[in-house]
Parts: sequence; C-alpha cells; structure tokens
Amino acid sequence: MLLLLFLSTTTKMTSYNIIDFGAKNDNITDSANAFIGAWKAACRSMEAANVSVPAGRFLLSRTLFEGPCNNSDIRVLIEGIIVAPSNYSALREWVTFKHVEGVSIYGGTLDAQGQALWDCKNSSRRCPAGATTLTVMHSNNVTINGVNLINSEMFHMSIYGSSNVTVQAVNITAPGDSPNTDGIHIHMSSAVTVTNSVISTGDDCISMGHGTNAVWIENITCGPGHGISIGSLGGGATDEAGVANITVKTVIFSGTQNGIRIKTWANPIAGFVTNVTFENITMNFVDNPIIVDQNYCPRKTNCPNMTSDIAISQISYMNITGSSATLVAVKFACSPTKPCSGISMQNIMLTYDNKPALALCQNVNGTTVGLIVPESYL
Ligand SMILES: *[C@@H]1O[C@H](CO)[C@@H](O)[C@H](O)[C@H]1NC(C)=O
Ligand SMILES: *[C@@H]1O[C@H](CO)[C@@H](O)[C@H](O)[C@H]1NC(C)=O
Ligand SMILES: *[C@@H]1O[C@H](CO)[C@@H](O)[C@H](O)[C@H]1NC(C)=O
Ligand SMILES: *[C@@H]1O[C@H](CO)[C@@H](O)[C@H](O)[C@H]1NC(C)=O
Ligand SMILES: *[C@@H]1O[C@H](CO)[C@@H](O)[C@H](O)[C@H]1NC(C)=O
Ligand SMILES: *[C@@H]1O[C@H](CO)[C@@H](O)[C@H](O)[C@H]1NC(C)=O
Ligand SMILES: *[C@@H]1O[C@H](CO)[C@@H](O)[C@H](O)[C@H]1NC(C)=O
Ligand SMILES: *[C@@H]1O[C@H](CO)[C@@H](O)[C@H](O)[C@H]1NC(C)=O
Ligand SMILES: *[C@@H]1O[C@H](CO)[C@@H](O)[C@H](O)[C@H]1NC(C)=O
Ligand SMILES: *[C@@H]1O[C@H](CO)[C@@H](O)[C@H](O)[C@H]1NC(C)=O
Ligand SMILES: *[C@@H]1O[C@H](CO)[C@@H](O)[C@H](O)[C@H]1NC(C)=O
Ligand SMILES: *[C@@H]1O[C@H](CO)[C@@H](O)[C@H](O)[C@H]1NC(C)=O
Repeated sequence: MLLLLFLSTTTKMTSYNIIDFGAKNDNITDSANAFIGAWKAACRSMEAANVSVPAGRFLLSRTLFEGPCNNSDIRVLIEGIIVAPSNYSALREWVTFKHVEGVSIYGGTLDAQGQALWDCKNSSRRCPAGATTLTVMHSNNVTINGVNLINSEMFHMSIYGSSNVTVQAVNITAPGDSPNTDGIHIHMSSAVTVTNSVISTGDDCISMGHGTNAVWIENITCGPGHGISIGSLGGGATDEAGVANITVKTVIFSGTQNGIRIKTWANPIAGFVTNVTFENITMNFVDNPIIVDQNYCPRKTNCPNMTSDIAISQISYMNITGSSATLVAVKFACSPTKPCSGISMQNIMLTYDNKPALALCQNVNGTTVGLIVPESYL
C-alpha cells in the first residue's frame, strides 16, 4: 500500500533508488525484487531515468533487466557492492541486460563469489558450468563504465547479439587458477570497444567468438590469464559467421599463457578471420606471445587427423616487443588445407632468456618489414 502510494505520487520522478523498492544493504537479504522493481520503473518512464544503487552490500540472487523500454537513456548508477549468494546454482547468467537500447552502467562492484563453484570444478565432482556475471544480449547502444567485476563463476562479462557496446575503465579480477573465468567474451556482435581496463583472470582476458565484427581494444593490462584470443572458432556443428575488422592496440601482457592468439578447431567447419591488427604490444614473460593454432583438438575426440577449414587472412602484427617465457615466441600452426595468407609483421622484438627467441611457421605466407626477432621466414 505504501509502495503504491509512493509510485503514484512520483510518476514524474526520473531517479529510482533501489532502497525505495525494498532493497536492504545488509549483505543478507535478497534484493532481487527491489532491483527488478526499480528497473521496471525506469524502463516504463517516458523520459531518461536513473536507477541508483547506493553504498553498502546488496545480496542479489539473480536479475534480468529486460527491455524494450519506453526511453533510450537509462543509467544504472552503482556505488555499492552487489554480491551473489556464496553457494552456486545451475543458473547460466547472474546480472543480465536483454533487449535494451541506450543503457549505461556506471561504477560499483559485482562480486560473484565464485570460489565454491571453482572448488567443485577442481574436484572430480560433476558441477554446473556456472553463471556469467554481467551479460549484455540482444541490445544496442550500451555503455559499461568503471565497473569492477570480481570472482565470477564463469565468464565475467559476455556481449552477445549486440551492437555499439562501449566498455571502459573496467577492472576484472579473479585468481589465475580459477577455471573458465574469462574476462570479456564477445560474439555475434559488432561495434564493440573495450578500453582503459585491467583484467586478471584464470582464462582469456578478452575472447572473441564467431560473428564478431568491428571490435576496438586499446590500453589493456592483461595478466594473469590466457591472453587476448580470437576463438576458439569452428567448434560448432555448422559453418560459422566470421571474425573481421579487429584492432588490438597498446596492451601489456604479464605472465600470461598467451599474448595474442588465434585458435581454431581442427574440424571441417568453414569460417574466416580477416583484417585484424595487433599493434604496440608489450610482452612480459608470456608463454606464447604470438600464436596461431589451427590444430585445436582437446581430448583428441571428433577431430583427430582433420584440418581446420577456417581461413585466416590479412593479419598485421606491428611493434610487438618484450620477453617470451618459452623458446618459441612466434608460432604459426596454420591449416594445411586453408593456409594463412596476407600475414604482415613489422618491428617485432621478442627475446627468450635475454637471447633472440625462435619462430615456428607452418602453412603461412606474408611479408615482413623492419627488424623481426625472431626471424620468421614468412
Ligand atoms: C541521473 O544521473 C546523472 C549522472 O549520471 C545525473 O547527472 C542526473 O542528475 C541524474 N538524474 C536524476 C533525476 O537524479
Ligand atoms: C556477508 O555475508 C556472508 C555470509 O552470507 C559472510 O560470510 C560475509 O563475511 C559477509 N560480509 C560482510 C562484509 O559482512
Ligand atoms: C543508437 O544511438 C544512435 C544515436 O543516439 C541512434 O541514432 C540509434 O537509433 C540507436 N540505435 C538503436 C538500435 O537504438
Ligand atoms: C552508440 O551508443 C552511444 C550511447 O551508448 C551513443 O551515444 C552513440 O551515438 C551510439 N553510436 C552509434 C553509431 O549508434
Ligand atoms: C582492481 O580490483 C582489484 C580487486 O578489487 C583491486 O585490488 C585493484 O586495486 C583494482 N585495480 C585498479 C587499477 O583499480
Ligand atoms: C590507460 O588505462 C589506465 C587504466 O588501466 C588509465 O589509468 C590510463 O589513463 C589510460 N591511458 C590512456 C592514455 O587513456
Ligand atoms: C569489415 O569492415 C568493412 C569496412 O567497414 C565492411 O565493408 C565489411 O563488411 C566488414 N566485414 C565483415 C565481415 O563484417
Ligand atoms: C579493416 O578494419 C579497419 C578497422 O579496424 C577498417 O577501418 C578498415 O576499413 C577495414 N578494412 C577492410 C578492407 O575491411
Ligand atoms: C604504446 O604503448 C605504451 C604502453 O606500453 C604507451 O605508453 C604508448 O602511448 C603507446 N603508443 C602508441 C603510439 O599508442
Ligand atoms: C611503432 O614504433 C615506431 C618506432 O618506435 C613508432 O614510430 C610508431 O609510432 C609505432 N606505431 C605504433 C602504432 O605504435
Ligand atoms: C590418425 O593418424 C594416425 C597416424 O597417421 C593413425 O595412427 C590414427 O589411426 C589416425 N586416427 C584416426 C581417427 O583416423
Ligand atoms: C606461399 O607463396 C608461394 C609463392 O607465391 C607459393 O608457392 C606457396 O604455395 C605459398 N604457400 C602457402 C602456404 O600459401
């Protein structure tokens, strides 16, 4: 009754505080209904609206922020910490934005408390895959700014079926040995930018799956983690939409398993990767600084003795320096049936143990300009 009265007298108000919808910042009470209530009010609003999450710890079991909405300027302003229940369930998503246009999320921390699920995965028990912390799906014109994502059960952020998504100044943190905790996964999306962010995880810092076009990644610190990857591609049952028009610029990798990686299954699934630029990248003790692996076949099932049908072309590597943690710093293991073409390398200087590292090149053609260490035989 009180709530109804409140709503009816504030229809003109354009800022909705979750406390007014019954949220408790006590770290114990599930505030899911309050988050949904505040979102629905903002979404119904005919004018720009804010949803505010004040300081404090809010326990949130699950939230779907769904559109379409009546306005295209909703800001979710987070000051506090949003925590997931410390046990896990079979949910695949935790905080999700779906069918929204013109939404911005600013600040705050989302702590998924993934430890219980990682413990399960690291034992031999059967465990659910886990939830992605922040998902943006089937949405356009979305900005995520200054958000901290901690200890996700699975991926920290997933951008799927969306366009014009800007991610900036995010800080993603999970232990280096936490399973499947990718930082940001992008697929079936276009016009995505990720800038000025620090990512430390147990899997890829950023990964791009099939159907990714026009991605700009700049000024990223990555490590620990598995690096920045295009792929795995070709792991599905049918031919795939390709990956094109990607720029990865000014990245520092420290102690990562890979630096910049393109990875495809050794399967007869067709697809492509084209027009990718990697530039101004620093490697600090990275296991595989530059790697193209078209022989991916974990557990050796479904793909032994097959070759990848993903065509990799027009890939440019420029100004890449630093140290490799292994002797082979540059590895092109391209498909014998779809050789890599149009690979260009310029100003590469990678060392192993303070000496020039080695390059391994299979089924690859291209050009080199300037100093290239290791020597690449393109
Ligand atoms: C909504 O948030 C913005 C800051 O992002 C602020 O400038 C604006 O005043 C807020 N609007 C209301 C009604 O609180
Ligand atoms: C939040 O609650 C959990 C138990 O649900 C407890 O383990 C944790 O210490 C609490 N954190 C704070 C900051 O109160
Ligand atoms: C995205 O924003 C631009 C500029 O405000 C607008 O023209 C466009 O219609 C929006 N796109 C969608 C799908 O809402
Ligand atoms: C992208 O979205 C932002 C809002 O997040 C908007 O200001 C901008 O105009 C959009 N750009 C395009 C090309 O739609
Ligand atoms: C990122 O978050 C982690 C964990 O919350 C924190 O220790 C670190 O200081 C943050 N880094 C930056 C650059 O904000
Ligand atoms: C690069 O990102 C860091 C945050 O990781 C930020 O402090 C710095 O200002 C950014 N540099 C530029 C040139 O934007
Ligand atoms: C790559 O970008 C170009 C130029 O904008 C565009 O014509 C092409 O369609 C894009 N490729 C894909 C696969 O989207
Ligand atoms: C390659 O991608 C860049 C953006 O990274 C774009 O400007 C350019 O038009 C693309 N070239 C082709 C041939 O698609
Ligand atoms: C190259 O990266 C370094 C950080 O490693 C940065 O300070 C510098 O501004 C970048 N240069 C260009 C041309 O982007
Ligand atoms: C590459 O390095 C050269 C020489 O250090 C520098 O002039 C150029 O600006 C760099 N380009 C990029 C894109 O970092
Ligand atoms: C793959 O090739 C190896 C060596 O040529 C052969 O021993 C093996 O039987 C082949 N496996 C399959 C599934 O064809
Ligand atoms: C590389 O180019 C040469 C000369 O154009 C050609 O003979 C060779 O087959 C090409 N190799 C691959 C792996 O494409």
